[in-house]
Amino acid sequence: MDYFEIEGKNQLFGDVQISGAKNAVLPLMAASILNNDQLTISNTPNLSDSKTMANLLREMGSEVKFIDDKIHINSQSINMPYAPYKLVKTMRASFYVLGPLLSKFGEAKVSLPGGCAWGPRPVDFHIEGMKKLGAKIDLEDGYIIAKSNRLVGNKIVLPKISVGATGNILMASVLAKGDTEIHNAAAEPEIQQLCHFLNSMGAKISDIGTNTIKIQGVDSLNNIDSVSVIPDRIEAGTFLIAVAATGGEVKLNNVNPMHSETVISHLKKANINLTVHDDSIVVSSDGKDINACNMETNEYPGFPTDLQAQWMLLMSLASEDSNIKENIYFDRFNHVLELNRLGCNVRVEKESAFIKGKRNLVSADVMSTDIRASASLIIAALCAEGRSTISRIYHIDRGYDKIEEKLSKIGAKIVRKK
Ligand code: EPZ
Repeated sequence: MDYFEIEGKNQLFGDVQISGAKNAVLPLMAASILNNDQLTISNTPNLSDSKTMANLLREMGSEVKFIDDKIHINSQSINMPYAPYKLVKTMRASFYVLGPLLSKFGEAKVSLPGGCAWGPRPVDFHIEGMKKLGAKIDLEDGYIIAKSNRLVGNKIVLPKISVGATGNILMASVLAKGDTEIHNAAAEPEIQQLCHFLNSMGAKISDIGTNTIKIQGVDSLNNIDSVSVIPDRIEAGTFLIAVAATGGEVKLNNVNPMHSETVISHLKKANINLTVHDDSIVVSSDGKDINACNMETNEYPGFPTDLQAQWMLLMSLASEDSNIKENIYFDRFNHVLELNRLGCNVRVEKESAFIKGKRNLVSADVMSTDIRASASLIIAALCAEGRSTISRIYHIDRGYDKIEEKLSKIGAKIVRKK
């Protein structure tokens, strides 16, 4: 299995190109099920998760081709509304196909996703949403069997904000009879892009970007031939934090700073220099004099949970102690043990982490546990004296496009080894 070998203590200088957003391309690929002609999705990141979604669509009968940063999908020939466990278990986002399949075929058989690195991640909100739209839902041998002649619009109140459930209900309700309201809807930029994409196909979605989205059901959608993926705000935040921690000066290109306002304000509070332009951000830091800044994760536009592990590492280098409250997942702290092996000193109590500042990081052999935890381990190793290795980096390949190439280009000593 591949692993990274990293020589620490090298500051980072130069330019980095941020890729398209993983969490935008996956719902767009699922939404292609509603499109009955060739669709080209451009500015796509080269990730194993996109390949997994492509294999899932192919299993159902779609044609999917990857050419450079474009994904060409033709779902006209889909004839099998079935998402098998062998694929769904490797990527929770596969569950996004439930809504569009039910909408288009009136039926769907989708495996329940497995757990993930940090505990159960249920899909009860998705299922309740489909029931509220009139679908008959049965559970057989770990599969959701959904049936409906035609979905009927309804008022749906999510128990708490959910990105995936919002996406699934959106893709189910656009062709429903009548109007739907989704309360506690996600406002994440990736969901906003999904709404605009569906509207470009003739859907009638309003109040996009709020926590109450309205959908007027239509009888049919037209085809659309292209869409370009928004920049990945989580990859951008990961690189901002990496430079803040290691020191140096780097320009991030192809970003949308408006999607990272809370992260930018936290970094400025931590005494990191940021110059923000329309589609780029220059970050510079001496890697010292980092101010401690308590943080709590929240749904968009709050501080993203997907940058919690990276922020924890940065705060380990701050001049004072600090704490993090994880409000989205009740136990997303698997990275703490590995970070502590690299010299951090973090204590977890329920949904809070207490971080000692002024840590001198030391090289170690560590193991990735999930996509974003891997990113925090890489940054820690870049800051540690000596040579570290990070194993199980298939996690990082799920969510970051050639991260070691991008880091090497700006001066990091990181190599992928077999
Ligand atoms: C999306 O996951 C992202 N994944 C996650 O990014 C991200 O961490 C998460 O949103 C939160 O922002 C994709 O977009 C592919 P949720 P999702 O439904 O949709 C609970 C990454 O590294 N919940 O918003 O699965 C859930 O347990 C990944 O890129 C239910 O209880 O997240 C969590 O506590 C990791 N029942 C909260 O809601 C449900 O039916 C938010 O989850 C659904 C969710």
